[in-house]
Amino acid sequence: MELKELKLIFEEKYGQGGDIRSYFSPGRVNLIGEHTDYNGGHVFPCALTIGTFGIARKRDDRKIRFYSANIEKVGVIECSLDDMTNKQSYHWANYPLGVVWAFEQKGMKLDTGFDMAIWGNIPNGSGLSSSASLEVLTGVILRDMYGFDDKTMVDLALLGQFSENNFNGCNCGIMDQFAVAMGQKDCAIFLDTADLSYEYAKISLPNAKIVITNSKVKHSLVDSAYNDRRNECAKALEELQTVVDIKELGELDNEAFEANKAAIKDEIRLKRAKHAVAENQRTIEAVDALKNNNITRFGELMNASHVSLRDDYEVSCEEVDVLVDLAWSIPGVIGSRITGGGFGGCTVSIVENYAVDNFKATIGPAYKEKTGYDAEFYVVDIGDGARRL
Ligand code: GLA
Repeated sequence: MELKELKLIFEEKYGQGGDIRSYFSPGRVNLIGEHTDYNGGHVFPCALTIGTFGIARKRDDRKIRFYSANIEKVGVIECSLDDMTNKQSYHWANYPLGVVWAFEQKGMKLDTGFDMAIWGNIPNGSGLSSSASLEVLTGVILRDMYGFDDKTMVDLALLGQFSENNFNGCNCGIMDQFAVAMGQKDCAIFLDTADLSYEYAKISLPNAKIVITNSKVKHSLVDSAYNDRRNECAKALEELQTVVDIKELGELDNEAFEANKAAIKDEIRLKRAKHAVAENQRTIEAVDALKNNNITRFGELMNASHVSLRDDYEVSCEEVDVLVDLAWSIPGVIGSRITGGGFGGCTVSIVENYAVDNFKATIGPAYKEKTGYDAEFYVVDIGDGARRL
């Protein structure tokens, strides 16, 4: 869909005239550094050129109305500034409404409501952050339309995370919203989640492409299992703190972890903490390898990340493991791993240009045969963060 079309839909639903504005917010893919962002570790995501488009206009009363051209049958969802609670009947609109709520919680009251229409091309539930995209989109709209000009893009990322944690009940880290807000064309973001310091690293792959493969599977335990992992890491940290002076798992390197791990009294927690520590170290090393143009090493670290997520963190699943195993068997695949929260969703692979067609032609049918699902492939470009158009 073109922006022009979305604007026509907006006018059809809400009427013409007034100060109608257009916005875009990307999805993201994480190259390496998984489940480290709530352990004070590093992540290395990038924004994509696919994402969510939004059209919005202020109203004169206190109504807020949302419409998604992706889910036409839900129709216009009407909310009010006077009743900002999460309701099942609000459907997807709980995400943007949560951001309005978060703004108000942080002292930014809206004088009037607004109308908003969206359309996105991020496959839902695929682990490419369609919800963070929508949250940051809403943040950019509110900042722009209501004059909260002192809010930085990092502030908008934090407001998005705050809304997701406290309005929508998922205890996620900051990676997704940060990547969506702060993305930069052709760069990944090397973010230290301990203090939110970051640097951009150019992703220059003249001979290769980033290929995302969607398993089309999303296991229902996602949110509860995610929160379980967080709790296991928190408990392991407490145990480690009895023997070593740290605030977060990300402060340990592999050696220090080995030296102190006996403090962790449970095998499962030991595996979780081992992943959190090792994945952080891998991410630091991977960015270093990239800076030295050692893309082969970068790929090896991606593969090791998958093994650790599969065996120690246990957030992969059969279907995704099939995708990754197939990818590893194809010549020209530099690295391949699960990306995002896990339990389904997508893999991210770096594939030599010459091998991309073979990658799709081999994995598609073999995956279908083994699992019954039709995988989808996206050869993606790295784009800029959320913005007014
Ligand atoms: C989800 C969360 C992120 C991060 C990843 C795992 O995408 O929203 O904060 O924890 O999982 O790396």
